[in-house]
Amino acid sequence: MTLILGLESSCDETAAALVTGDRRILAHRLAGQEAAHRPYGGVVPEIAARAHVEVLTPLVEQALADAGVTLADVDAIAATAGPGLIGGVMVGLVTGKALALAAGKPLVAVNHLEGHALSPRLADPALAFPYLLLLVSGGHCQLLFVEGVGRYRRLATTIDDAAGEAFDKTAKLLGLGFPGGPAVEAAARAGNPRAVPLPRPLVGTAEPHFSFAGLKSAVLRARDAGVHSAGDIAASFQQAVVDCLLDRTRRALAVADGATALVVAGGVAANGAVRAALADLAHAHGLPFVAPPGWLCTDNAAMIAWAGAERLAAGLTDGLDVAARARWPL
Ligand code: KG4
Ligand code: ZN
Repeated sequence: MTLILGLESSCDETAAALVTGDRRILAHRLAGQEAAHRPYGGVVPEIAARAHVEVLTPLVEQALADAGVTLADVDAIAATAGPGLIGGVMVGLVTGKALALAAGKPLVAVNHLEGHALSPRLADPALAFPYLLLLVSGGHCQLLFVEGVGRYRRLATTIDDAAGEAFDKTAKLLGLGFPGGPAVEAAARAGNPRAVPLPRPLVGTAEPHFSFAGLKSAVLRARDAGVHSAGDIAASFQQAVVDCLLDRTRRALAVADGATALVVAGGVAANGAVRAALADLAHAHGLPFVAPPGWLCTDNAAMIAWAGAERLAAGLTDGLDVAARARWPL
């Protein structure tokens, strides 16, 4: 069975994983950088890149040891080649190239979004193409009709902020700390989701696009009004995001002919309220609902290794001259 080493370094997680072509995750190591970025209230690209340099290679050594294999046992090296913070992407890609060169193994340059998009197939062997995917992360908010490896039809995207970005900005406005998504979700548990009237941007429009900038401004006004608790604002904000995601996804389902499942991936897919609402929507449409476990939704290297396995199986490898890309639409 093929064995893939995956590397991830496009934002503020450094990760290495070993995954087999039959979906066994032999090792996955991850080093977060929250403490380094917390004083700034967000990810500082320069700090992130330097941290990746320090920890990525030791993580590879640890992952190989965890799995009880050596580089010689690996069939290919998969590294995120974009999109993301370019300094970090370069660290991971150059590390991948060096390992591929040293071991004489093929390199697979993985689009980080493809890593998220295929991660549900690592979690669920029964998930077949095509499926409707809601990809919700810190940098992206898209509805994709996933037809096969390398075949992604984008049905909708955000016209301003990504959903995760809205969570992060709301956390900052409410003083809930960093990273924002889990902090807002925790604060929302103690709040009333109907306490604060907030807008649902673009809900009801024909095209299933997203918009979250107006929601963030409304959170700022609610905070400054000083009437509601942070918990109530967090809960109302989360409910507004869920309502937007649900309405837009429902609309996309109407045009996603032949979809075998409704699937969610990306960091925001770790959110319990988002998952519960989408599960209900899928069941109402008679479709299976697939969401990877939380750790596989947020950035990790197992999804990059798995995308590498899928691409390798399709004969899609890359030369050692492949470039790192800050922007790279699927
Ligand atoms: O996929 P990801 O780890 O990195 C990107 O590719 O962007 O997504 C990170 C985003 C952040 O904005 C984070 O706040 C959000 O996912 N996130 C969450 C939760 N966990 C992570 N948002 C809402 N609820 C969560 N539990
Ligand atoms: Zn991501």
